[in-house]
Amino acid sequence: MIQLWADRTTEISKDPNIKYVFPFENRGKEVGVTMPHPHGQIYGYSYIPLKLEVELKSAKSYFEKNKTNLFDAIIWEEQKVDKRIIFETKNFLVFLPFFTDYPYGVFIVAKNDAIYFSNFSENEKKELGIILKDVVGMFDALYDKPFPYMMCVHQAPVNSEEWENSSLYYRFHIEFYPPLRSSDAIKYYASSEMGAWAAANTRNVEETALELKIALKNTKMLSKESANEIFLNQFSYTAEEYCFSPGRINLIGEHIDYNGGLVLPFAINKGILAAFKKNENKIIRIYSADFEDSLVIDLGKAIEFPVEVNWKTYILGMIEMMKSKGLFISGIDMIICSDLPLGSGLSSSAALECLIGYVFANEYYDKNRKELALDAQHVEHEYAKVKCGIMDQFAVANGKKEMGMLLDCNNLQSNYLPIELKNFTLLVINSNKPRALVDSKYNERRAECDKILALLDGFDPSKELANLNPLSLAYIEDDILYSRAKHILTENNRVKMASNALADGNIEALGQLLLASHQSLDEDYEVAGHELNTIVKYAMKVKECVGARMTGAGFGGCCIAIVEKNAIAKFKQYVSKSIKKIHIILVLF
Ligand code: GLA
Repeated sequence: MIQLWADRTTEISKDPNIKYVFPFENRGKEVGVTMPHPHGQIYGYSYIPLKLEVELKSAKSYFEKNKTNLFDAIIWEEQKVDKRIIFETKNFLVFLPFFTDYPYGVFIVAKNDAIYFSNFSENEKKELGIILKDVVGMFDALYDKPFPYMMCVHQAPVNSEEWENSSLYYRFHIEFYPPLRSSDAIKYYASSEMGAWAAANTRNVEETALELKIALKNTKMLSKESANEIFLNQFSYTAEEYCFSPGRINLIGEHIDYNGGLVLPFAINKGILAAFKKNENKIIRIYSADFEDSLVIDLGKAIEFPVEVNWKTYILGMIEMMKSKGLFISGIDMIICSDLPLGSGLSSSAALECLIGYVFANEYYDKNRKELALDAQHVEHEYAKVKCGIMDQFAVANGKKEMGMLLDCNNLQSNYLPIELKNFTLLVINSNKPRALVDSKYNERRAECDKILALLDGFDPSKELANLNPLSLAYIEDDILYSRAKHILTENNRVKMASNALADGNIEALGQLLLASHQSLDEDYEVAGHELNTIVKYAMKVKECVGARMTGAGFGGCCIAIVEKNAIAKFKQYVSKSIKKIHIILVLF
């Protein structure tokens, strides 16, 4: 397409009557076109259309005043602010300008001095082609439906003396005009826009830019090829080894792992991928594509931890841990990239910890997976300051494809059990409300559990809340502590019933248990919150959905729902129409 646009622009310009060549694309009935599928046209105008003329004049007068190309100034400013950049490649910046008419009006600006398609090298054309694919894919992922847009290519005029030196002050760029402001509301050109040329965007640009970034991430497939590309970009040579560490979803058994209860998690096909090459040096260089940030560790020196907990904390913690065990740590060049929504309750931190264990001490930890889980948990406690249970690390370290795991956190005995949902599937719904365990009430809940145990000391012999005698609840006078203990006992029972329901293939019963678990987490344990409750509420309005609940620690993050396979589209449409900002990730069994 890019080559075609370049060729046609050159060809059409050969007619001296043509002053401006304008390629564009339209998609969707919302745009008002007769053909709703993506389709393009190229107009050759015998004059410079007004909008382009205004833009050119502004760029020229900016240059005369500041001796700088306006588009460079925009790029620098956006890079400084950063919040509106969707992504950046070597030769292009993709961002949401603060002045956008439409909430999702992405701009793609060339960083070099191109003013026509024909100025781009072969590689730049390829780069731009991939960018366009990513941008429209990102739009489609935003609301899980084909996203309407107008895409306008701004090049410099042709055959006009007046604009001959325009490469000094003008720049090739592409402007998107997608006329949606939410999944089902159109952004119209109404009175202010049409009658006064005064765009009134009701959405916050930084917020919509973030939504787009999340949507883009959801379209990205992890592959060795893409990891390799990132590695090559960082280190200028090719990676030799790869390692994948999965995220996890907990089917049922929430907030009882640290109370010696039963849990039923499973590893998922989304996770973190590392591409690396070990070396003889004493230097570790790790680049995170998600955070666009690097970590360098000199193994000859003491490890320094960041003041605030971040992705580096988990890596440094694991390295410190392995060093203290006398495991050999080599120098390495490594990149990590992930398709796991970060901080969304799918255990990205456990995935990262286990990944580091496997990359540096593969042989050792492969034989000692329980130890890997315990070491990773220790890192969470010691360095990330979250007193988490063992479920996440255990599920990540021991996960098997398409298998659930019934784990008894009292003695770390586990059984794999197949998750066969017959004519149902499990959907994961991301609230996109980030969940930060440290900031959340997670540690507070653990402290409450310790209090209950201390309170019952002498009345009940159990050292683990999940194994209390239910009659002991009568000794808890404090209402809040009573509710917490009630959740733990009832949830433990629900896990037993859920594993039976799974074994019997009784998916409706499993669904009911999920729903009961959610209610208990909301009312008795108080960790669900508005967003997760809203998702469960709307999910349960779809009659083909037999059960839904929050998964993970709560306070944000994800929900799961068991839905009939033939109602997936209906479910997605209804739930994402009812709640803004959510994203549905499909997990199939
Ligand atoms: C987080 C913790 C787990 C577990 C869950 C809640 O994911 O890391 O140990 O407690 O919350 O079930």
